[in-house]
Amino acid sequence: MASSLVSVISGRPAEGPPAGTVSSPNPSRLADVVAEVALADAATFAAACAAAKRAQPSWADVPAPVRGRAAGAIGRIVEANKQSLARLVTRELGKPYAEALGEVQEIIDTCDFFLGEGRRLYGQTVPSEMPDKQLFTFRVPVGAVAVLTAGNFPVAVPSWYLIPALVAGNTVVWKPAEYAAASAMALFELIQAAGLPDGVLNIVFADGEESFAGLERGLQAGTIDKIGFTGSTAVGALIGELAGRHLQTPCLELGGKNPMVVTPSANIELAVEGALFSGFGTAGQRCTSLGTLIVHESVHDEFLAQLSAAVSSAAIGDPAQDVLYGPMLAQKFADRFEEYLGWIQPHHKVLGSSGTGRISDASPRAGFVGDPGEGMFYHPTIVDGVRSGDALFREETFGPIVGVTTYSGLDDAIELANAPGYGLSSCIYTNDPREVFRFRRGISAGMVSVNNSTSGAEAHLPFGGNGKSGNGSRQSGVWVLDQFTRWQAMNWDYSGHLQKAQMDVAELTADLGFRLKA
Ligand code: UN1
Repeated sequence: MASSLVSVISGRPAEGPPAGTVSSPNPSRLADVVAEVALADAATFAAACAAAKRAQPSWADVPAPVRGRAAGAIGRIVEANKQSLARLVTRELGKPYAEALGEVQEIIDTCDFFLGEGRRLYGQTVPSEMPDKQLFTFRVPVGAVAVLTAGNFPVAVPSWYLIPALVAGNTVVWKPAEYAAASAMALFELIQAAGLPDGVLNIVFADGEESFAGLERGLQAGTIDKIGFTGSTAVGALIGELAGRHLQTPCLELGGKNPMVVTPSANIELAVEGALFSGFGTAGQRCTSLGTLIVHESVHDEFLAQLSAAVSSAAIGDPAQDVLYGPMLAQKFADRFEEYLGWIQPHHKVLGSSGTGRISDASPRAGFVGDPGEGMFYHPTIVDGVRSGDALFREETFGPIVGVTTYSGLDDAIELANAPGYGLSSCIYTNDPREVFRFRRGISAGMVSVNNSTSGAEAHLPFGGNGKSGNGSRQSGVWVLDQFTRWQAMNWDYSGHLQKAQMDVAELTADLGFRLKA
């Protein structure tokens, strides 16, 4: 049965006629509508920002350890609902159930981390250059935060924003992807169950255009102090431009063209396993999914033969069953994926399945689990022989497609890995420590894996990218605190008279000409 969803602002359903409605179908069984979603307009979005702004000072007055305990409670509540939330993610986004459970675990891990952070949020005591004066630093919340998230990680990635933002004393307006609305509403309800006061967390369902206009209104009105955005590089650039006009730095987590370098000393089976998971797991729809395999020419044939065999025999289909991957997340991703397939050229060699494009009765896939006609399922596609000028090499291709190219020297591999201009995740398979550290130094990515794939970051290491993957902002662990707090410096002079910095400072007389006797 489809649920009817509406935005919630200050604990109440948004009023007024919606700016439209949209349905969120199950991508593995399109006839199953998961939710009907009433969309808000820009004015409603801006009203949510105003509500968050009003609620922020009293939320910041709640002691940080108490806010941390709220994160702890959210973690326990999510844990108690782990299976039902994962089932909903599988139903609404087509993510295989085992992966959906992992996604929910990522929320729990984030809550576990920030439970403790509520008791830290450390500032510093700093010595002054003058007597009877003390210097301090404090982390202060940024204010009201607007968070706009994608639907490929419909609950885990939002938690990377929401949990630390709340623990740090901010209030939030969250705009999830429309095609992930039911999963988002479930997470919203689980968070609310921890007892947050009204207005501290608000959820707004809106399309991209109205949301953007709402952001602009909020920024103009001074009711948005920070924007967090996970999504495409193109939209990230627009948000960066808008925020910059208001002298703000958004937290941007954008696309990737994540390289995997396979060196001559690599354990080939291990590299194949990693390429299979990161290239085709989640149907290649993670921002950390493998983009291009850069394989040493001496191991190319052996590696490709093994990878092609593994991909050809992988189980694809019904995400409620034991499959490598299920459907595309939503129609727009299926449409775009078909465009990427159009970038395959005569000099390419295609492997990995019995066809390309949509899996159907006319284009079957051996071993398909379930009925492909019910959803948006696509053949896995390995494209060998990609060249550095090819669109398939240069552009992000969200979906189950992986390019393969070769290299002869490690410097060339690093150059190829950096060439598309993204910089999110990367990996190298090698048993030579010199190669590990040369790669780490040369790669532009924010994240580097060694003998592990490009996907699967743990929830307490800095997550984020450079170049077309982001503006250098980092999420997760202590590092995300720099997104949701600002440093305030305080000095306290208790000498009872004015001591001027740099001028009234005692000096010791040093003999800088002093030398040891020869
Ligand atoms: C994303 O695709 O936006 O590292 C996040 C990973 C996951 C998170 C991916 N833990 O693949």
